[in-house]
Formats: sequence, structure tokens, C-alpha cells
Amino acid sequence: MSDVTETTGSTASASGDGGDVRLRGIGKTYGDFTAVHPLDLTVPEGSFFALLGASGCGKTTTLRMIAGLEEPSTGSVHLGEQDVTRLPPYKRPVNTVFQSYALFPHLDVFENVAFGLRRRGVRSVKNQVRDMLDLVQLGEHARRKPHQLSGGQQQRVAVARALINHPKVLLLDEPLGALDLKLRRRMQLELKRIQTEVGITFIHVTHDQEEAMTMADTVAVMNAGRVEQLGAPADLYENPATTFVANFLGTSNLIEAEVASTAGGEILVDTRGGRLGVPAGRCSAPSGTGARLLVGVRPEKTVLALADEAGRIPDGRNRVTGVIAEASFLGVSTQYLVDGPAGRGLAVYAQNVDRDPRLVPGAEVVVHWDRAHTFALDAAQDIEAGVERVEPATAGKDGRAERAERAERAERAEREEKAGKDGQTERAEQAGKAEDAWTADGAAKEAAG
Ligand SMILES: Nc1ncnc2c1ncn2[C@@H]1O[C@H](COP(=O)(O)OP(=O)(O)OP(=O)(O)O)[C@@H](O)[C@H]1O
Ligand SMILES: [Mg+2]
Repeated sequence: MSDVTETTGSTASASGDGGDVRLRGIGKTYGDFTAVHPLDLTVPEGSFFALLGASGCGKTTTLRMIAGLEEPSTGSVHLGEQDVTRLPPYKRPVNTVFQSYALFPHLDVFENVAFGLRRRGVRSVKNQVRDMLDLVQLGEHARRKPHQLSGGQQQRVAVARALINHPKVLLLDEPLGALDLKLRRRMQLELKRIQTEVGITFIHVTHDQEEAMTMADTVAVMNAGRVEQLGAPADLYENPATTFVANFLGTSNLIEAEVASTAGGEILVDTRGGRLGVPAGRCSAPSGTGARLLVGVRPEKTVLALADEAGRIPDGRNRVTGVIAEASFLGVSTQYLVDGPAGRGLAVYAQNVDRDPRLVPGAEVVVHWDRAHTFALDAAQDIEAGVERVEPATAGKDGRAERAERAERAERAEREEKAGKDGQTERAEQAGKAEDAWTADGAAKEAAG
């Protein structure tokens, strides 16, 4: 997979701009354990970039190496023309927003935001703070204390506090993780608006694929310390290059297949459920006759027909037969799972327009779809890679498992953040001042002139 990561850099570096964040062969090992494999990545100046991956895949470690909070074992970090690999965090034009915001509880919103300026000895902070509060739409709450704010408002204070230092790059580590689903969705749009308005580079770490796709221009999908694929959200979604990306970014039906023939830009494959067609351009693996592939289609591209009405399905569409094993009504759609010779648990998402009451568990059906919507991957991969443990259809995104997972992540992030802070600001902590703890960064910046 390392060749994938090597090509990723060039893909994203099209702009070649002076303010790009460039990671060259950057990696991190802890003893025998490799948290991040040597990685090449270029984040174009002014872009909204997301690092997306499951818990423990190395997102925070990568972000911390950019911030200077973690020393890379190999490689270098460049910000624009400057090699910052050896620079301490406070000398880098970078600010970080952590998951737990870490606002000063005894200071009001205005003073929380003003803090970085005051530390640098800026006398008249009023206008800058006002502008910043307007940007995050908190002007009316300037005199409130953090505990008098909602989670989303606190999150915006944290963003304002980081932005007022005019960083070239804002690093965000799961900044929305503590919010409930609806608020998270709203804050995603809000963060996107702020980024567009200030125009600086945002590097946003998240495990939530919807969040990454909503906000980012470019998404890097990480798995076990490597970037598996990088690209625009729609491109990643439509053309996943690995089973991990196919399963982690949304849901994919993957069907084991063997190439029967190739002709006229189309690959014909045999599955246990019959013959299917795949556009040759959408196959990312060798496709000589006899080659083994995993043929994929997204659930929302598929349609269900009752088996005894299969005659009405237009010619030329891919089709597999099966029996409905499960039907979950989700309001906007119904999600069906179909078991058949081609595979078990094939997912079909049907928009809730006219529900056919005969499509219930036990019904014999045909799943069919446009051949153009079919992709194919190398079969030498784990077909289950990146599959979420909890089915959204049965547990819901806000289900108990998701909440427990989120709580666990929050706890870990806090521990990690604390660990990072301890090392970084020993001096400040000794003085017992929360302010100093937070801006060891700012204070040292000040000292550095
Ligand atoms: N100081 C450390 N010593 C040893 N291992 C570490 C250390 N810090 C992180 N790791 C390990 O490195 C891997 C990557 O950690 P990292 O924090 O980057 O993951 P992550 O992708 O941010 O996960 P999450 O979504 O849970 O925050 C994990 O397996 C973690 O246990
Ligand atoms: Mg993390």
C-alpha cells in the first residue's frame, strides 16, 4: 500500500502554492509499534482538508507532528518554503483546536478570545475580538462564562480563540466529537462557512465520514497508519480504490467474482449469482480472464423488484436474485438486506416515495442496477475491511454503541491532550496558571519576538 501513499502527495499538490503544508516521508514509531507509516502529503494553501479514519489509525499523531507537539521519527514538515520540522510548536504559524475546547472557565467569552492578544501585549484588543466574535456569531454572548454556553457555542469560542492569533494553518482534532448529532451537523456547516470566510488552511481530523465529506475539499482516508486514498469527497465515494475505503466511506455491496471476458470497454465477470458487467474504467485491479475481483455497487444505486415481476426490469442492467432478510424503515428511506447466491446481506436503499407493501422479509426479489454504477477492486483484500461494527440501520447513528464509542474516544483524547500539554508546558503548570498552560504556545511566541 505504500505506493498509494507516495502518489497521494502529487495528487493534492496541484496548486504548488507557497503556503502549502507539505509532509515528506513523515512517520512515527513508538518502540516496535508504527503509529504512522512514512507518509507524503501536500495540503494546498487555503484548502479544507480532512484526515478521516477509524480510532487508532494515526490521525491525531499526524496532526500533532504538524503542530510540533510530537516529534516525527522520520521525515519532514514544511509550511510554505519553511522547514519547520525542528521548530517548537510556538514558533510554527499553526494553532490547534482540541476536542475538549479547554476554555478558561473563569474568563468570559470576550476575554477567552482576547487572551492570545493580551499575552502578546496587544493593547487595544476590542475591535479584533469584536470582529472575531461576529465571525463565529457570538457577539451577543461576549460577557457570558463558558458554563453559560451550549456545546456548539463553546466550540465556536475555541475556534475564535485560535483564529485571533492569525495562524496560517488551523488544526482541528475532532472538534465536534462532544456534540450531539444535530448540533454536529449544524457546526459542520458553520465551520465550513468560517473557513471560507477567513480563507486559511484547515486540517480537520475526524472519524465521521459524513463530517469529512460535508466539510472538506480533499479527504485523506487513513487506515492503520497509512493514507489509503486521497481525493475530493465525491471522487472517493464513487471510485473507492480499496475495500477499506469502499466500506468505511458509506456502505458498499461487494460481491466475489471472476473475470470471464473483456470487450468493448466492459469486463464481464461471473459471480455465484450469475454474470455481471463492470465498466473497464472503474476497475482498479488487473482484469485478465480468470482474475479474481470484488465487484461493488452502492446501496442507493440499486433497486428491488419482486422476483415474479423481474420481466419488467429493462435489459442490460446488472441483476442478482435473493430473499429479503431484513427491512428497516428509516423515514426518508427503507433499507433492505437481501440474501442470495451472490452474497449475504446485500444492502438496498429505497427512497420513501411509494412503498411496495409486498417488499417484506421472506419476499423473493431481484436486486438490479445500472452497469455504469458498478466498480471492481482487487480480490486479494479483506472484503470486510472498514465495515462498521454497528449497522446504522438497526442502531442508528445516535445509538448506544455510537455514544459509548464517542465517550471512549473523548476520554482518550483528553488523556492524550493532557499528556501533550504536560510535556509542553511544564513550566507553566508549575506556576499553576491555567492561562499559561494554554498559551505556552502564545507566551513563547511572544518571547520569540
Ligand atoms: N505515546 C504513545 N505511545 C505509544 N503508542 C501511542 C502513543 N500515542 C499514540 N499511540 C498509538 O498510536 C496509534 C495512533 O494513535 P492516534 O492517537 O494517532 O490515533 P487516532 O487516529 O487519532 O485515533 P482516535 O480517533 O481514537 O483519536 C494508536 O494505536 C495509539 O494507541
Ligand atoms: Mg485522535
